[in-house]
Amino acid sequence: MGVIIGDFNRKGGVGKTHSVINLAASLAMLKKKVLVIDGDSQVNATYFFLGNDEEFFDGADLNENVKTFADVIEGNADLMDSIVRLQYTTKRLLKKHFSKIECVIDLLPASKDMDLVDISDIYAVKKITDGLKDEYDYVFIDFPPSKNDYTLTYLVACDYIIIPAECGNDDSIMGYSDVLSSIEDIQINDEIDSNVDILGMFFTKFMSYKNDQKEAMEESMKVKEDMKLLDTHVRFDYKPTVDSKDKHEPLCICAAKSKAAVDYMALAKEIDKTIRGKK
Ligand SMILES: Nc1ncnc2c1ncn2[C@@H]1O[C@H](COP(=O)(O)OP(=O)(O)OP(=O)(O)O)[C@@H](O)[C@H]1O
Ligand SMILES: [Mg+2]
Repeated sequence: MGVIIGDFNRKGGVGKTHSVINLAASLAMLKKKVLVIDGDSQVNATYFFLGNDEEFFDGADLNENVKTFADVIEGNADLMDSIVRLQYTTKRLLKKHFSKIECVIDLLPASKDMDLVDISDIYAVKKITDGLKDEYDYVFIDFPPSKNDYTLTYLVACDYIIIPAECGNDDSIMGYSDVLSSIEDIQINDEIDSNVDILGMFFTKFMSYKNDQKEAMEESMKVKEDMKLLDTHVRFDYKPTVDSKDKHEPLCICAAKSKAAVDYMALAKEIDKTIRGKK
């Protein structure tokens, strides 16, 4: 039975989308069946995966015939028909030989006008994602940088929330408290049927060579138990990240040896192990 994971942090630009893309790709490399649902009208994940394909994008605009998550919520498109399959191949040295490895990721695209869709039913997303647990090991929902009726329906649908955050200032603590209070509101409400819980926070763009970040990390480790902090963090890695966006390929495909790719693979393994331990 698969799990639904959301990346929630109201603060913008902390690396949510980048984390979902690279965790999904790393898990796909580990032969897990993964789906990314782009839940953000900025369509960043959708553009990352499909932006170089004329069948889907005309410049920065998604073609009108593409079926999206919003169409599925509105009942205007069939879920499975709306999912796009992405296949990447790469070579890895396995037992002294180079072997071809396939990385398969499914994507349910977002649309720029999805915020206009009526989302008054808090189970609107859960009704869709519950049925996906038989199909996938991991379903990721890429959250927008906001807190509104949309994110509430995503939270209700999720089993676990990961909190990507930047290290070195109070924003990460505030981000954690903000997510925690949203989740507790759901957990204490007997009328809401949801399993949502925090899996953990992790740092993105971590610069261990900067003293303030090192100190902030040490401080965070001291309160680790209270805060559910994951062990693995992702180092700042500018060039591979830019190349990955330019090539529309996850880091494990276009820059597998980069610091960020190595960290995302380690984080994917930690998440997989933690979740399997909970089952
Ligand atoms: N490890 C990293 N090293 C360097 N740059 C990174 C790293 N992770 C993310 N970035 C960059 O940080 C920026 C923000 O990342 P991303 O779009 O994933 O954030 P986000 O939290 O999803 O943003 P939003 O809140 O707008 O949805 C992007 O330009 C991305 O390339
Ligand atoms: Mg994003």
